[in-house]
Amino acid sequence: MNLYPYEKEHIARIRALAPECMVLLKTNGAFPLKAPGRLALYGSGARRTLKGGTGSGDVNVRAFTTIEQGLRAAGFTITTDAWLDAYDAVWQKARAAFTAGIKARIAAGDPDGFMLALGAVMPEPDYDLPLDGEGDAAVYVLSRVCGEGDDRHAVPGDFELTPTEIRDILSLQAKYPRFLLALNVGGPVDLTPVADKVDNILLVSQLGMTIGDSFADVLLGKAYPSGKLASTWAAWADYCHIGDFAEMDETRYREGVYVGYRYFDSVGKTPLFPFGYGLGYTTFELAVNRIELDSSFVSVEATVTNTGRRPGREVAQLYVSVPQGKLDQPFQTLAAFEKTDELLPGESENVLLGFDLRDIASFDNETACEILEAGQYALRLGVSSRDTTVVGAIEIGKTVIARQLSHIGGEPDFVDWKPEAVPCAPLPEGLPVLSLDTDAFDPAPLPGAPEISEEAKAIAAGLTDEELAYLCVGDYRETGSDSFVGSAGMQVMGAAGDSCSRYPDKGIPSLVMADGPAGLRLDRQYGEDEQGRYSIQPSLFELVKDFLPDEMVNTMHLNDVKAERHGVIHDQYCTAIPVGTALAQSWNPEVCRACGDIVGEEMERFGVHLWLAPALNIHRSPLCGRNFEYYSEDPLVSGRAAAAITDGVQSHPGRGVTIKHYACNNQETNRLRNNSVMSERTLREIYLRGFRIAVENGDPRAVMTSYNLLNGEHTSHREDLVETALRGEWGFDGLVMTDWVVAFMAGAAHKYPAACASGTIKAGNDVFMPGSPVDHADLMNALNNGEARYPLTRAHLEKCAARLIDLALLLREQAE
Ligand code: BGC
Repeated sequence: MNLYPYEKEHIARIRALAPECMVLLKTNGAFPLKAPGRLALYGSGARRTLKGGTGSGDVNVRAFTTIEQGLRAAGFTITTDAWLDAYDAVWQKARAAFTAGIKARIAAGDPDGFMLALGAVMPEPDYDLPLDGEGDAAVYVLSRVCGEGDDRHAVPGDFELTPTEIRDILSLQAKYPRFLLALNVGGPVDLTPVADKVDNILLVSQLGMTIGDSFADVLLGKAYPSGKLASTWAAWADYCHIGDFAEMDETRYREGVYVGYRYFDSVGKTPLFPFGYGLGYTTFELAVNRIELDSSFVSVEATVTNTGRRPGREVAQLYVSVPQGKLDQPFQTLAAFEKTDELLPGESENVLLGFDLRDIASFDNETACEILEAGQYALRLGVSSRDTTVVGAIEIGKTVIARQLSHIGGEPDFVDWKPEAVPCAPLPEGLPVLSLDTDAFDPAPLPGAPEISEEAKAIAAGLTDEELAYLCVGDYRETGSDSFVGSAGMQVMGAAGDSCSRYPDKGIPSLVMADGPAGLRLDRQYGEDEQGRYSIQPSLFELVKDFLPDEMVNTMHLNDVKAERHGVIHDQYCTAIPVGTALAQSWNPEVCRACGDIVGEEMERFGVHLWLAPALNIHRSPLCGRNFEYYSEDPLVSGRAAAAITDGVQSHPGRGVTIKHYACNNQETNRLRNNSVMSERTLREIYLRGFRIAVENGDPRAVMTSYNLLNGEHTSHREDLVETALRGEWGFDGLVMTDWVVAFMAGAAHKYPAACASGTIKAGNDVFMPGSPVDHADLMNALNNGEARYPLTRAHLEKCAARLIDLALLLREQAE
């Protein structure tokens, strides 16, 4: 394959950083192998390797290396061709039946059929194929796919292992002294039936283009895994089942702040593999040098030493146990982390872990303040949430206010669950205890809503009402909308959408927006003739077309236009980076920054202004179908990863990110109209915190509100989320857009309607995406209309249009 120089460079960079995202879950020293030899290779992901999940987060690469290809290229002789061929046949047969089932549902008029086509996940089939390969070692690659539009299910073949997988994995473990179970998954699977019996388990994850090569590098010890879990892996029964999940209308977050390790640690349940856990090919020791408290900033300096025989990298993690008080508290909360550079055997590095106490404060509903209650805050240093040592404490003499806020988000119809008793041990003797000077302590200031430039305001002021309304919805063709999630863009083929392109003569540039987060999602190629650019491989259609009845394909203009137009074909090959969860597993912001840099470079190359990523919703349930796009169950890990990738993208002039989906979008079931019901404390401490960290540390150019409702109102209709929190409390000074509300995606009628243009603009979103004549008409109807459901004034439209113009001018100026 004749790769362009930029592709070669990006692929080489991804290959080198991908091992940092792999997590070694178990090892007995049988790996890495000394040299490539004869290898028995099995499992669903061996040949059908997954580079990422499905839906708008899937990147249309030219090609990628499967695990089978990577191993062959590295010099391995695969002895299991017969098994791999036979598995392919089993898969094809199962796939044909599965596709036919969904096609029939859509043809019969099932209104949810289209969303199913988008996120349809075929459970792994069962089969009985002889494991008769030979070799010096065996590798079983287990894969699971999931994606937008559907949640995962706690059944065999999805979250659980199938009887076939359990049988085959255990028999390979028994047969081969060197056997590795490799997991090509975007999120947890319940490994209970095999976890304590298999000696070597590697979470490879879904690593984008070079997954096969990167895996071979690790198998041969040319690289080593240094990732840590960004979410807890446990038996299905052990996860928190206190709140609802995947309910159609109301999803009650009854578990409150007890999400992920905050739950497991507080109720004393032992997960299979805890949050923050990951082994290496070597071992480390941590020793504390000093603990300091400077005003409200805590620093812990530790020395990390490689005590083993191979090079490696370790992640030092600092947790805090906040004292129980008026507010109940989880056993511990991650407050800081730092990854070392590569350490050779015997080498040491000093790492500095720091955090502001105000950032671990808790929301007190009674006073609408974040507070630090009086008591002793134990500092725990370690290498996973279940492997920490208390190294000191901070003493707070009297309760202080960390942030004075106002109420947002509405109220739930329940009181948050709390554990009966959270484990708590007295601080061991002799450890340093530092006291906060509560008299000198100040609450963190709130920045207030930022100003819009005079230039942008003047341009908006000169527009008619109708023109303003056009700016407040995405671009569309008047003659029949081609609006389609993931591919409504008209300027760059395969981009997800554009902002209004009607007024270049008034000095208003249009912004091109393309999806992520696993790279830049564009069509691989497009045509160009005297009429302009045209799409020849509409990528999202490719994804769903197998599921759609023929008539539907025709009415949706999905036919190949290649036959009608004969222009020049251009390439738009983009690089698939590791999925969000895999990036978070690196626990290294530099890895995220490097990936952002690759995306930003490709945005410049192909003329995209806003990347519709990163996505940082919280892994609340391991079953959320889009978790692979998201980072972690922990807001700090999520927020830091998002800020770092933002930095990488935005280091390219004229390019910006769009952090999404703001907020509480933690399931795919009825995703446009599901109501997330939760307390304000839960909202602020778990579901908004990552966004705040990303805004304050990454300065993203845009934010995408989410589809779902929060406490009975769409998040995109909530002025308190957009204006009060995002702009007022965090100082966000960019553009707010909606997620892609397309009428035909809504599916069957449910309790709540989908969000509408007037509701979102009134709440402070600047652009309703992807845009259609109906949305423009909705804005015009709401204007100065007291009878409208969401009445608007010209001031609303002018403000939103001015903010869009402001960003468009800024990005253009940077690019020049
Ligand atoms: C997804 C977004 C995506 C948008 C545009 C929506 O369905 O939820 O994540 O950015 O489509 O493709």
